[in-house]
Amino acid sequence: MTLIQPPADEVLDRAAALLAAGKLIAIPTETVYGLAANAWDRDAVAKIFAAKQRPATNPLIVHIAAIDQMDRAVMMPLAPELQRQLDCVVDLWPGPLTVVLPRSNRISDVVTAGRDTVAVRIPSHPVALRLLRRCPFPIAAPSANRSNYVSPTMAEHCDGAMDQPGIHQFIEMVIDGGDCDFGVESTIVALRPEGPRLLRPGGVAAETLAERFGITVPQLTGEQLPGLHLTGTPLTDAVAESAAEAGVTADGTAAMLAPGMMKEHYSPTTPLMLYDTARPMSLPARAGRIAFKPLSVQEAACYAAVETLSDSGDLHEVAKGLFAALRRLDHAELDLIVIDCCEPVGIGMAIMDRIHRAAATHSK
Ligand code: TXA
Ligand code: MG
Repeated sequence: MTLIQPPADEVLDRAAALLAAGKLIAIPTETVYGLAANAWDRDAVAKIFAAKQRPATNPLIVHIAAIDQMDRAVMMPLAPELQRQLDCVVDLWPGPLTVVLPRSNRISDVVTAGRDTVAVRIPSHPVALRLLRRCPFPIAAPSANRSNYVSPTMAEHCDGAMDQPGIHQFIEMVIDGGDCDFGVESTIVALRPEGPRLLRPGGVAAETLAERFGITVPQLTGEQLPGLHLTGTPLTDAVAESAAEAGVTADGTAAMLAPGMMKEHYSPTTPLMLYDTARPMSLPARAGRIAFKPLSVQEAACYAAVETLSDSGDLHEVAKGLFAALRRLDHAELDLIVIDCCEPVGIGMAIMDRIHRAAATHSK
């Protein structure tokens, strides 16, 4: 029997009961599909790490249904300065924004990987909200992919049939909420006494957050965020390397970056290369291309497979289709995938961040 179920009321009732019983299910959100467990149940949360083969040092995002549920995850009341920062962005919820705040002791330390902070968000996907409202506990949910593989943006990506052999042994159900609207994960921002810090670019533009906080994008991103250094050209290895180090070491620098933001992430198995107009490359016999807008007939003819993400180069369409295209071409028995680039502005910062990470594995 298929694990994939339609988002009917009785299915959501069953899903809430499965979570209450300590089981894992895959759920749709507006960003990517999540692998969900009761965030108050440490054994259930431990299963997420096993299913994804995720390092125990990489904390999870906790989902709640409404702002009055903050105390299910966060130490409330907040210090006045943190409350002030939260007030600047709270109207972006429900939506693809995650904030990092001091944790409540109700949250399992397996979720926070032993940190004294917790990442929390209110998703806007109607199915996610209908499920959350049925649960008397918050839901911990990382993206529902094997650690380091491409995040899932369709129910079919989650059941293990295609991409992640073995993961289905851990999952009781996949709730089908259709294709995810954003296609890249939430933006993560740490709210801190010394000021907010962007930890991961995502569905909410860094420019939007900077404006809300009354600061500049460089102030928000600091020096650590690889996306900041992109100007349409590939990220230098030195920057990627230092970001990778910052992501894995536990010193002060590490706190600046989400611990999961290591260099190798989102990686297809097939080598991935950024398309560089300045440096024409010689293609292997079976190359695929992910184009942000339609290619000329001559150019398309150079490739064994072409995925076109938008008719007009619209970056929201590009983000929405990006991960599914990477997965499809990863299954097309290609020797190389070549992918377009964009300016790291607005949602473009999240797109280029994910592409650089996906390409990093193969540029070492
Ligand atoms: O859009 C999303 O955020 C999706 C959907 C399912 O909600 N979730 C998601 O989760 O992307 P995941 O596990 O793939 O990414 C969580 C990120 C990791 O980079 C992790 O290190 C960071 O959040 N994170 C979690 N707790 C943190 C904390 N206390 N401090 C800093 N970073 C944290
Ligand atoms: Mg992930």
